[in-house]
Amino acid sequence: MTNSLIHPKQGDKENSSWFNEFLIKLLEDRDRIGLTDMIHQIDALMITVEPGCSIAYIKELSLMTPYHYLVTLESETHWTHILRIDMRSPDILVREVRDPNLSGIFRSLNEVYPIGAHKPNSRYMGEIFNVTNLHEVVELQRAREIRFFNQDQIRKLELPGNMAIVKPSPYTHNVLAYWERPETELRIYALGTSIIHNEVNKAYIEAKNIQAKFGLDQLILPVDHLATRVYSQNREAAILEYLTLSSYYYWGSYNIEDQNSSTNVTKSIHYPDESHSPAKVFTAANHPYFVNHIVGLPSPTENFVRNYGPRLHHIALSVADGETKGIENIDYVVDTIRAEGKDFLLDVIGSKEEGLKQIFSSASEHSSLIIEYVQRYGDFEGFFTKDNVASLTKAAGVEENLKMLQAEATEQ
Ligand SMILES: [Fe+2]
Repeated sequence: MTNSLIHPKQGDKENSSWFNEFLIKLLEDRDRIGLTDMIHQIDALMITVEPGCSIAYIKELSLMTPYHYLVTLESETHWTHILRIDMRSPDILVREVRDPNLSGIFRSLNEVYPIGAHKPNSRYMGEIFNVTNLHEVVELQRAREIRFFNQDQIRKLELPGNMAIVKPSPYTHNVLAYWERPETELRIYALGTSIIHNEVNKAYIEAKNIQAKFGLDQLILPVDHLATRVYSQNREAAILEYLTLSSYYYWGSYNIEDQNSSTNVTKSIHYPDESHSPAKVFTAANHPYFVNHIVGLPSPTENFVRNYGPRLHHIALSVADGETKGIENIDYVVDTIRAEGKDFLLDVIGSKEEGLKQIFSSASEHSSLIIEYVQRYGDFEGFFTKDNVASLTKAAGVEENLKMLQAEATEQ
């Protein structure tokens, strides 16, 4: 039996005694009933974009990530494009809503937030976990009061029929799905008709030619972590809920005092290498917005959640350790991608001496998601340095404020 409590806790952020008590109880229970051993790696990530946006978004992902376009699943109201690196790292499902008038639960999650509402279909939806014994996993989770979409709802949402999908989290607004796939079998999504979408394919090939020309295909590695932003008061519940739903463990939390924020990391208990199953990070403000005037600190994380709703903020990709043409790989990757017309929120920060360098891209106009690049040196195992996180959080906050001003200017 796997022991999910084997790793020492990292970080300096204090948790409540409630969190500390239930962290142990939840993980002991999960291990004891066998869920930890039945739930394996993240097999796919699901993202939805606006009508007409998927070709441009796939072009962007093909340039900025190692993903390849595989196939499109055509259903009545959606195109679902499957992107893959290989069978070791998770797929990305890019779903385009074909009808701008289509409404549904995922759209509703955006519509009550002032900036989120501007792109009502754009949202990261969640992760699909590979499990052994899907039926038993679902029964055990139901007994723990986890709620699932029924088969009729999954059919109406035009999500793959061969998975069990948990309803959106009240804390993160993301879903989590389970499916059963023997490790030796390919990932096959039971949805619609398989086609090769010519325009998507053309955009994909163009971007991959650029990657190959500059050697980016050798430097940009699979997803390292997924970072979700939640309301400050939901930080502990969001972490523990994710541990309840997955086979991840609590790695630890860091306080980013001067940005009034904390970064909280969970990782797969089964796959220590993030490229196999990405770490899942939760970022939350230290104080709710209404005490900011008393605390007197900036509050970029809480501002983001108030503007967009709780949701995924960025997808981080690793960059191979080393140098290209005399400069560190991350700088080379960013310079090359900048020259192709993509913007970044700040310069590359961190250093070899500190163990890692990081950068945030501007938010994609198609998905609202930021791409982070992270290059680790030698055997550095962390996800950030405190100085880096403070700079990244601050830079994202500056862009946030601009967007909020623009949104207010166009508000009726
Ligand atoms: Fe990150």
